[in-house]
Amino acid sequence: MFSKYYEVLDLKLAVSGKGGVGKTTIAAYLARMLSRDNNSVLAVDADPSPSLASALGVPEQDRKNLIPITKMTDLIEERTGLPPTSSSESSEGGSTTFGKIFTLNPKVDDIANRFAIKCKDNVKLLVLGTIDTAGAGCFCPENALLKSLLRHLILKSDEYVILDMEAGTEHLGRGTAKGLDLLIIVVEPGRRAVETAIRIKKLANDLEISSIGIVLNKINSELEEKELREQLSGLDLPILAAIPYNINLVEADLHDESPFDYKNTENIFSKMKKLKERIHNMSKQ
Ligand SMILES: Nc1ncnc2c1ncn2[C@@H]1O[C@H](COP(=O)(O)OP(=O)(O)OP(=O)(O)O)[C@@H](O)[C@H]1O
Ligand SMILES: [Mg+2]
Repeated sequence: MFSKYYEVLDLKLAVSGKGGVGKTTIAAYLARMLSRDNNSVLAVDADPSPSLASALGVPEQDRKNLIPITKMTDLIEERTGLPPTSSSESSEGGSTTFGKIFTLNPKVDDIANRFAIKCKDNVKLLVLGTIDTAGAGCFCPENALLKSLLRHLILKSDEYVILDMEAGTEHLGRGTAKGLDLLIIVVEPGRRAVETAIRIKKLANDLEISSIGIVLNKINSELEEKELREQLSGLDLPILAAIPYNINLVEADLHDESPFDYKNTENIFSKMKKLKERIHNMSKQ
């Protein structure tokens, strides 16, 4: 989406795919590259087991102080009128939202500014956290806050938003999902990753997400890439990039360093740069 200023963009991207395919790695690269290009970038960790902070290079001691939004009991109560279901259940032993009224449209427009932390290259990071009780579809104050927050970030904010998600797209909700400019489905060589991609595409179509693209990751050979492309051809989605397997990314993860800063990862950087440019150009069409 173009903002009113020339060359200032506020694209909303989401990265999805089977567990372990490289969603967080790709989200972190894109966030840091887009931010280096002088875009205002908000990276949002919407995965129940958050790891985007580490991939963005936030040191462990700072990560310890990062409180996910769903754990901000006071904020949830202040904005929705009720404490989170999980916290009240543990103290009172039952579902406390039953029969009680809470705000379904809480105020959220200040949350990113107040709670996002600054990472390397000026990327801002917001960690959403997990809804412990009844899953993402639960009718509870913390879910109302998260849904409103995502809706606001995707539909109203004027910066790049990069969502690192789990395999599903359900928790976005229809109206919010429609606001996405691009859903990236990451696929690694293997039947399970392909099947997950097929499932995500179906969900995305149901949610009327307008633009979906595939990124192949962990490609070991031309033959592997060719076979994967064939397996995905029925999906009729553009392949935006094919990123090679590079053992140094695993090493970066083992050493708790951002893959973006890690040694001997130039081949990843050049492919990611092309991906970033492709995404950037899509926004001008
Ligand atoms: N191109 C690559 N080559 C080699 N290893 C990679 C590549 N991309 C990612 N990895 C490694 O694969 C592992 C999983 O990556 P990552 O955490 O980004 O995946 P994910 O899809 O976000 O996983 P999860 O579903 O657990 O959130 C990490 O150790 C990461 O360093
Ligand atoms: Mg991840």
